[in-house]
Amino acid sequence: MSMIKIEHLRKEYPNVTPLKDVSAEINKGDVISIIGPSGTGKSTLLRCLNQLETPTSGKVTFDGEVITDPKCKMNKVRQKMGMVFQSFNLFDNLNIIENIMAGPIKLLGKSRQEAYDEGMQLLRRVGLAEKAMNLPSELSGGQKQRVAIARAIAMKPEMLLFDEPTSALDPTMVGEVLQVIRKLANEGMTMMIVTHEMKFARDVCNRVFYMDEGGIYEEGSPKQIFYNPQREKTRIFIKRLKQLNLEIGNQDYDFIGFTSELDRFSRELMLSDKLVRNIQLVFEEIVSQNLVPYSEAYYNVYPINVVAEYSDSDESLWMNITYRGMQYNPIDGKEELSAVIVKKIAQDIKYKYEKDLNSLDILIKKPE
Ligand SMILES: Nc1ncnc2c1ncn2[C@@H]1O[C@H](COP(=O)(O)OP(=O)(O)OP(=O)(O)O)[C@@H](O)[C@H]1O
Ligand SMILES: [Mg+2]
Repeated sequence: MSMIKIEHLRKEYPNVTPLKDVSAEINKGDVISIIGPSGTGKSTLLRCLNQLETPTSGKVTFDGEVITDPKCKMNKVRQKMGMVFQSFNLFDNLNIIENIMAGPIKLLGKSRQEAYDEGMQLLRRVGLAEKAMNLPSELSGGQKQRVAIARAIAMKPEMLLFDEPTSALDPTMVGEVLQVIRKLANEGMTMMIVTHEMKFARDVCNRVFYMDEGGIYEEGSPKQIFYNPQREKTRIFIKRLKQLNLEIGNQDYDFIGFTSELDRFSRELMLSDKLVRNIQLVFEEIVSQNLVPYSEAYYNVYPINVVAEYSDSDESLWMNITYRGMQYNPIDGKEELSAVIVKKIAQDIKYKYEKDLNSLDILIKKPE
């Protein structure tokens, strides 16, 4: 029997209807990643499930109980369905262990001692026992999120909902939070997680919901959705997820923008630091050190377009750099530093000039 049954769920706001007609069944032990473009109702779906929002119409049955029924006791439902937010939502004036004890004392009727003992055990599980007496403000983002997860588990939920649990974190802290979620998955916790971390979803989730056009537009196993999506919009979204795309229009290009795009890209694909460094190096040596000054001294080459595409199967990364102007290969036979550096990183380099367009394909080696 399914743990949750969603039937024709609809949520209207005055100006938009993010959920038009959503139906799905979630089984015990399912770990579902919810992906999709911004504004497609991913958060709204989670909020309608644990009734932070009241659906406009439709029915949600959880453990045999119709929770969309106004007579249903919502506190009880929320206790069985924990939620973890992007912004942690810890109580700032309570220390870590108090944050965890509050729910079990208030809502489960536990004694302080019992709540404390269980809370400490949970903190040990997420590796934060030594921070028990600290305030949230004394913790890093990754640590705060681990506390938020421990706090949700303290209520002994049957299911956990995560709304982009790692998107507010520095890249260095994403791993520690995903590791905690991974552990929960291994223990059989039923979870729905809004996340674009593709590699994580592939390793940990058994189902992926791609949301678009007011509902679950396509669903399947991570393999199906990430490697063989069937429908048009899913295809476009997945292709973008695997690509880094950048256009440089003039010498004053936004290199901070490049860094943050590269950041997003490497994080969603969980690329190794070394590979990210190599992408950065190729970009710096070819674009910043070569094409930009060349363009100033000789011919206008703008716009420069950079596309990087990662292939999980062999962990290779293709970078394609195109630019206008005369025929010019920046790494052709020269012993210039930039050419030497790029040749060291690259496994294969192809240059061509067609229809006034220079095109460089660089295959970056999987770092040892
Ligand atoms: N309380 C609200 N009042 C009015 N409109 C809302 C409300 N909450 C969300 N919306 C709108 O509903 C739509 C879906 O929002 P939702 O937050 O669910 O999208 P999302 O898929 O989670 O997006 P993101 O990826 O940016 O988090 C958006 O157009 C949003 O502006
Ligand atoms: Mg959202």
